[in-house]
Order: sequence, then structure tokens, then C-alpha cells
Amino acid sequence: MFVLGIETSCDETAVAVVKNGRQILSNVVYSQIALHQKTGGVVPEVAAREHVVKIMPALEEALAKAKITLEEIDAIAVTAGPGLLSSLLIGVNAAATLAMFVQKPLVPVNHIEGHIYANWLKVRDLRSGAQTQRALRDLAGAKAPKNVGQPPKFPIAVLTVSGGHNELLIMRGHGDYKFLGATLDDAAGEAFDKIARLLGLGYPGGPAIQKAAGKGVLGRYPLPRPFLKNWDFSFSGLKTAVLYLTKKHPAKTASPQFVADVAAEFQESVCEVLATKLANAAKKFRVKEVHLAGGVSANTRLREWAQKLLPRGMILRFCKNFGLCTDNAAMIAAAGYFKFKKNPAAYKKWAPIIADPNLELMQW
Ligand code: KG4
Ligand code: ZN
Repeated sequence: MFVLGIETSCDETAVAVVKNGRQILSNVVYSQIALHQKTGGVVPEVAAREHVVKIMPALEEALAKAKITLEEIDAIAVTAGPGLLSSLLIGVNAAATLAMFVQKPLVPVNHIEGHIYANWLKVRDLRSGAQTQRALRDLAGAKAPKNVGQPPKFPIAVLTVSGGHNELLIMRGHGDYKFLGATLDDAAGEAFDKIARLLGLGYPGGPAIQKAAGKGVLGRYPLPRPFLKNWDFSFSGLKTAVLYLTKKHPAKTASPQFVADVAAEFQESVCEVLATKLANAAKKFRVKEVHLAGGVSANTRLREWAQKLLPRGMILRFCKNFGLCTDNAAMIAAAGYFKFKKNPAAYKKWAPIIADPNLELMQW
């Protein structure tokens, strides 16, 4: 079964074709990063206008790369939320029009669910995976993750960490989630972006902090580890602690070494907290696998921490290809495939989809 995925929830215009929920035939992402670097963040109206310009070229390219015609597609999956309303509307409208045109089922997908299902995709680019495995092997005492070509096995402990979302859940089956915790304030990615801005590191903040942290020394500027007693997360106190640090050392703020040291300590704190809760959930709920999902799962330190804290022998999955960690349409097509397969009668070609900026993750 061939599913066309469309993703326009924020600042990437993405279209992909995925076969049977796991095999990527094409995965086109038109990034708007350069556009939003000028403003240091995403301006919703600017993003939406760019989606309008890029959506059809992305569609053409995705179909051409997959060597498939629109008529041969079996279903169309689109991100219905959460995200920026003006951005979501472009993808939802395009998908609905295409579905009606070719009379194919239209499947609305929750963006967070898309990130979750990115781990179900088979990875073709093994190069970055190999590098990651080497990095993991370097970590004292940690074993590299197993080769995970087989489909995941339930139950799975999933940590979704992106710019807008930060959830810890147990996946008991397809579309069957037990929610454990979420952030009470900022999502991890949002915290990375804000601290990067504070340290003058630019946008997007996650990769910039990771790069700066590579030259930093841990322990020079100790920061708290915000462990809450339950499964929830909170990064606002950590952010304030970084703000106080920069106020306390104003002359040093301009020093690249100070910035690198603080970036390293901040990254360490976030990754240690995230990985500890994930590992605790994995042990308590006796899961078979552990998955890292969302833009922040591209962070190599988070991967290292997760690997270090997980029980021996437990499978850890994350997208070895960094492009599958951040927003893309292959993950939307994958989620759409499993959603459709579970209940095909629920998806009719003419059923309207509501773009919902606050769409919650629900069972299906
Ligand atoms: O999943 P995503 O592409 O978009 C959302 O759904 O929000 O995630 C984007 C977020 C941004 O906050 C970005 O700073 C963060 O993921 N990110 C990272 C890294 N790469 C992207 N955070 C930490 N380390 C990274 N290497
Ligand atoms: Zn995302």
C-alpha cells in the first residue's frame, strides 16, 4: 500500500511517499530555516506564504522520486495538528483537494504521532547511523544499539521531544497510548531554542547548542537537574538559572568559552533528566523497546544518556538519519498507514479534516 504524506505544521514543507508504512520511496523536505534565521524564529505568516509556494513543487518532486503517479497512491495522510494554524491549513487543504481529485482516502495524522512513527521507518542512510554507533561505543561502558531492522515490538516506552512537545508515554499497540507525563512549561526543544538565543547562538537552537557544547567543559558552571517527583518535566527553572549565570558573568557572556561551557552544562542537564525518566519508565512498565522521537532526538548526547541508563539488552531506537528526527512527511505517511490499516472504514475521501493547532494525541 502506497501512502502519500504531507506535513506543513510549522516551517518545513514536506511531501513523501511510503510503502507499507515502513519503506521510504521519497521524502522531500523544503526547509525554511534560512528564511526564519533572519528573524531568529518562525513568523507564522511568513511560514504559511512559503508553504503555498513550495507545496506543489514538493508534491511533484516526491512523486517523481518515488516513480509513482498520484492515481497509484492508495491513501493520503496529512498533519492535522498540532502546529501553526496558518501553516497547517496549507497542507490540509492541499491533501483534501488531492484526495477528492483522485478519490482516495484521506487520513488526518497528529504531528506528535508522526514523530512517534518515524521510528517505524526503515533507515536507508546507514552512514550517520554508523557514526552514531561509533560515538556510542566510545561512551565508557555503553554498548552500541542493536541493529534494529525488524519492526518494533510492543510495549514501547516513547519519549517525544521537539520544539513544541515533550511527552513520555507507553505505547501498548498501534494508536494505544498510556500517557505518563508531559512538560509543565517549555518543551525541551523550546528550551534549547531559548537558551541558544540567550547565548547568542542563533536559530535553530538545538543543533547550535550541541555544536557549542562540543567545546565546553562540564562542571565549570553547574546547573540544576530539574527532576520532578512524577513523570512530568519542567525546564523553566533551568532556563532561569542560565539567565542568572549570564547576568552574573556579563563580561564573560561574550567569551566563546563561557558560552560553550554553559551550553554543555545546559545540554547535559536536559539530556540527563529526559533519559533518566525514560529509563525509569522502561523499567517500571517492563517494555520491550525504548524510542526517542522528535527534533531533540537528533541530539547525540541525549542518545548517549539513553543508551547509558537503559537496562542491558533493551532495544533503543532513534532515527539514525537526522532528517527523520526533525519534521518530515515520511513519518506522517507511516503514521497514516498504520492508522488506516487499523480502521479503513473510518477514512472516506470526502470527509473534511479540521486543522487544529491544539490537536491532542488520542487513541485510535
Ligand atoms: O520535531 P521538530 O523538527 O519540530 C517540532 O515539532 O517542534 O523539532 C524541532 C526542535 C527545535 O526546537 C530544535 O532546536 C530541536 O528540535 N533540535 C535539537 C537538535 N536538532 C533539532 N535539539 C537538541 N539537539 C539537536 N541536535
Ligand atoms: Zn515536529
